[in-house]
Amino acid sequence: MGAEPYYGPDFGLLRRQDPELAQVLLDELERVRVGIQLIASENFTSPAVLAALGSTLTNKYAEGYPGRRYYGGCEVVDRAERLAIERACRLFGAEHANVQPHSGASANLAAYAALLQPGDTMLAMALPHGGHLTHGSKVNFSGRWFDVVSYGVRRDNELIDYDEVRDLALRHQPKLIVCGATAYPRLIDFTAFRGIADEVGAWLLADMAHPIGLMAGGAIPSAVPYADVVTFTTHKALRGPRGGAILCTRELAGRIDRAVFPFVQGGPLMHVVAAKAVAFAEAARPEFAGYARKVIANAQALAESLDAEGMRAVSGGTDTHLVLVDLRGAGVTGVEAERRCAAAGITLNRNAIPYDPEPPAVTSGIRVGTPCVTTQGMGPEELKELGSLVARVVRDPGAAEEVRARVAGLLAIHQPYLSEF
Ligand SMILES: Cc1ncc(COP(=O)(O)O)c(C=O)c1O
Repeated sequence: MGAEPYYGPDFGLLRRQDPELAQVLLDELERVRVGIQLIASENFTSPAVLAALGSTLTNKYAEGYPGRRYYGGCEVVDRAERLAIERACRLFGAEHANVQPHSGASANLAAYAALLQPGDTMLAMALPHGGHLTHGSKVNFSGRWFDVVSYGVRRDNELIDYDEVRDLALRHQPKLIVCGATAYPRLIDFTAFRGIADEVGAWLLADMAHPIGLMAGGAIPSAVPYADVVTFTTHKALRGPRGGAILCTRELAGRIDRAVFPFVQGGPLMHVVAAKAVAFAEAARPEFAGYARKVIANAQALAESLDAEGMRAVSGGTDTHLVLVDLRGAGVTGVEAERRCAAAGITLNRNAIPYDPEPPAVTSGIRVGTPCVTTQGMGPEELKELGSLVARVVRDPGAAEEVRARVAGLLAIHQPYLSEF
């Protein structure tokens, strides 16, 4: 009788061989079991995704694309990548998918490389108004290599100012317009962006890193029919492994593929590509549509509860998984609120609000999101309570112990990685 073949993650083995590192893994699991995660960009992947991530596919070099590799022995991993591509195209109704980007930032770098030359003009959302670093920040390659023009939100309603976007596009004639953000709680009007891009002959890139999971579940309108290129991360509301991906038209397929490899990246992470395939299949299930709807309903319950406590939701609410909260009414800065919540077992991040008087390291706001707590099975009632717990401890740091006890009560029923989800 031969030994059992080794298929994947074996925590017992790791614990015996490297107890020090194994303890880090245990401590991280414990951290999420005793605290509530309201970071809008995080989620808990399924055990099946974790199994693919912990597989021997990590060993394989596979530069190139299925059937066109620069290494031998890729016939097996080719099947994983073909599955990921086919499933992504079916899930999003896209003509072409590239599933190799290592992250959302790499996906954007590749998309820009496919469409622009250094020095070209691009129009994207300003970072202090919710845009991402890769949308033209001076500390990022995008701000250094391109001539970036930024649009923002209106002061009165904190919504994207489409008139301003159009004016800027007409004045600066960008080659690329980017829509999508990292801290914008509302739906984006893709028809308006498409119209403006067509008017000035620009490409339209939708960076859907944040809401792609909601689009996969059909809970909000998809950007795919409107944008030439859609970049996204697979690890946020979509609930897949940490990574990126790109969808595009058939016309741009070759340019996008050549930009990802060989221009931006070398060998793809085949274990992550396999895990993306698993996540795309999970997101195609009817249960995932229910999940995506619940994520939004939960975010709306959280926004209402915070609002009732005098912590104003920027733009008056949310249509998505995230809420941007203006803390000026409570007289507490974002950095202080983040610290106070952490002391009570609630993890969230400080975030600039539009026209923030505070510097980025301090901020007047926090950003909260519901992908994690929804995966854990919480519903609007729990989210309402969480809103008042956040408000309570933000106002009164002395309430940390009481709030932590209630957090423990919620987690006793809604533990991550204990039940099937
Ligand atoms: C809009 C947007 N684009 C790109 C990214 C970058 O993704 P990653 O952190 O995987 O590089 C993020 C990350 O939060 C994002 O919000």
